[in-house]
Order: sequence, then C-alpha cells, then structure tokens
Amino acid sequence: MESSSKSASKAVEIPYELPWVEKYRPLVLDDVVGNKDTIDRLKVIAKDGNCPHIIISGMPGIGKTTSIHCLAHQLLGDAYKEGVLELNASDERGIDVVRNKIKTFAQKKVTLPPGRHKIIILDEADSMTAGAQQALRRTMEIYSNTTRFCLACNMSNKIIEPIQSRCAILRYAKLRDQEILKRLLEICEMEKVEYNDDGLTALIFTSEGDMRQAINNLQSTHSGFGFVSGDNVFKVCDQPHPVLVQGAIRSCMKGDVDGAMDKLNELWEQGYSAVDIVVTIFRVVKTFDEMPEYTKLEYIKEIGFTHMRILEGVGTIIQLSGLVARLCKMNMKPELFKV
Ligand SMILES: Nc1ncnc2c1ncn2[C@@H]1O[C@H](COP(=O)(O)OP(=O)(O)OP(=O)(O)O)[C@@H](O)[C@H]1O
Ligand SMILES: [Mg+2]
Repeated sequence: MESSSKSASKAVEIPYELPWVEKYRPLVLDDVVGNKDTIDRLKVIAKDGNCPHIIISGMPGIGKTTSIHCLAHQLLGDAYKEGVLELNASDERGIDVVRNKIKTFAQKKVTLPPGRHKIIILDEADSMTAGAQQALRRTMEIYSNTTRFCLACNMSNKIIEPIQSRCAILRYAKLRDQEILKRLLEICEMEKVEYNDDGLTALIFTSEGDMRQAINNLQSTHSGFGFVSGDNVFKVCDQPHPVLVQGAIRSCMKGDVDGAMDKLNELWEQGYSAVDIVVTIFRVVKTFDEMPEYTKLEYIKEIGFTHMRILEGVGTIIQLSGLVARLCKMNMKPELFKV
C-alpha cells in the first residue's frame, strides 16, 4: 500500500484533477488486488526473473494492463525505457509492424540487469489480425533467448492456437466484492471522500466486478454530489434502483400483482429500458436472501426467458408485465387457476 499512497501524495500537488483510475493505478504487483494465485505467480517471476511468454486474459478493468506494467517495471527497473516495447490497440499492428518494429526491437542490443530479458508488451492483443499473429510465431521463437512477449486480451480465444501454445496463459477472474471494497476504502481515505455503507454497496453492485468502473463511479459521485450514498450512486450510474426492484420482487412473492405492477410502472416511467430493468431484476433475485432456493431457481428461469425475448427485439412493458405476472402466479395457490 505504501507505494500507492506515495504516488497519491505526488499527484495531489497537481492543480487539476486526474482521473482516479490513473492516479491510483498500482505501481507494484503487491498493490494489485484480487486473483491472488495468479498474481503470486507473477511475483515469483518478478523476483526470479525467469519470465516465460505470457498471456493474461479476462474481463475489462480487472488489472491486466496494470499487472503487466508492474511486472515489467519490477523485472527491468531503470532499464525499463530501453528494455520494453509497448504496443496497444491504438498502434498500428499489422503484419508490417511485426516484420519491422517488433523484429528490429528484438534484434536490438540493450544492457539489462543480469538474467533479464527485453519485454514486448502487446496490450489488447485480441484486436491483432490473424495475419499479424501468424507473423509473430517464428519471431517469438527465434528471439526467445533475448526477448519475452507479454500479451493482454479480453478474449483468449481470439489469440491463435499456435501463439497460445507458446505462452503461459493466466486467466484473471472478476474481482470479488471484498477486493473492490478494500480498494475503494483506501481511495476514500486518501481522497477524504464522505460516504456511507449504502453508497459503497451500491458502487460494488453497479460495478459487477470491474474495478475501473467502481473507481470511476466513485469519483463521479464524489464530484457530482459530494457525498457517496446509495441514491447518489444510482443517479450517476443511471441504473434502476435495486431497492425498488426488491420491492417489486417482494410483492411478487406475496402474489400481489397490483403492488408489483405499480413498482414496475414506476421504473418504466423513470425511462429505463426493458433490458436495464430485466438485468437488474436478475441481479437482485440472484442475491436476494429472503427467497427460498427453489423459488429463486424458478424465478431465474422465467427472467431468462424474458431477457431472451427482449433481446430478440420485444422490449415492451407488456413483456415485463408478463414476467411479473408469471412470477406472481408461482406464489399463488394452483386451485385459483382451475376453470
Ligand atoms: N486488481 C486491481 N487492483 C487495483 N486496481 C485495479 C485493479 N484492476 C483495475 N484497477 C484499477 O483500474 C484501472 C484499470 O485497470 P487496467 O488498465 O489494468 O485494466 P485492464 O484489465 O487492462 O482492462 P482492459 O481490458 O479494459 O484493458 C487501473 O488504473 C486501476 O486504477
Ligand atoms: Mg488494458
């Protein structure tokens, strides 16, 4: 934690405000939270210097780019500038670049700490064309005594098989609620953010395991409202308020169609789209502990069907009402429906 607070104190002197995601981007692997086993492996590599070619894959905003940079910094130290070539999706990365830029860099002679290799970072590697990836295959082998490749991507299946077989693949999972909470609390403390528990819960709920999103929403709420409360967070994120959705689900569980419809209409009138509503209903039901397991399963099944219809294009209030009706029906006595 030391280093991040150091970087923070440096940034505070800058008069304009940096986005917090950048201001608090971890500088060493110790500060990267979550995915403990994988990060421990990286730490061992950083210490021993025995870096294989690696691919890190996972959802956006969970620390892939950050960990590769930390790893490269820890491996090369002061030699980072000469020893690292970084290319991301904003650079041209067609076949020509692989033939010229990457090859030239791989052939270049640089003085590095003993036992270390030059590192080529290919961020967002899934956007490289298959042709360019093919051109990498032999390059990776020929220069492997001096150069190592670190790739980051969201979908590892977009990386061609032969490259995958040359690399150690590390998969990052979405961050857990506790892990995001820990980081948010640190940032709140350093930025002197005023918050309540409800606000933090809302940030974690809306971020869905994406740290970048959580930090961005924290900053937006802080600068927009000055106080991080549940209501403010949902205003910033523009998502249906789960408390309202919870109310609707509770009515469904009591078989109270009118109550449930009222709440649904309220959400609809606030202007949320059918997809927003159905996705929030799903996430609320998934974590709703007032509901017995078997009801939950039946509910999720129905929600799934409605989601499918909405994605097929029928995003009307009628579909949502149909869902609410079916959910209510499950909690009513079957005799009532006999004709
Ligand atoms: N595991 C983490 N620990 C601490 N901070 C994190 C973590 N993951 C993400 N962050 C924060 O989110 C920001 C973005 O992270 P990063 O650039 O590593 O995401 P990424 O996984 O490369 O995402 P993308 O797939 O969109 O490129 C960082 O600047 C950092 O502030
Ligand atoms: Mg990235």
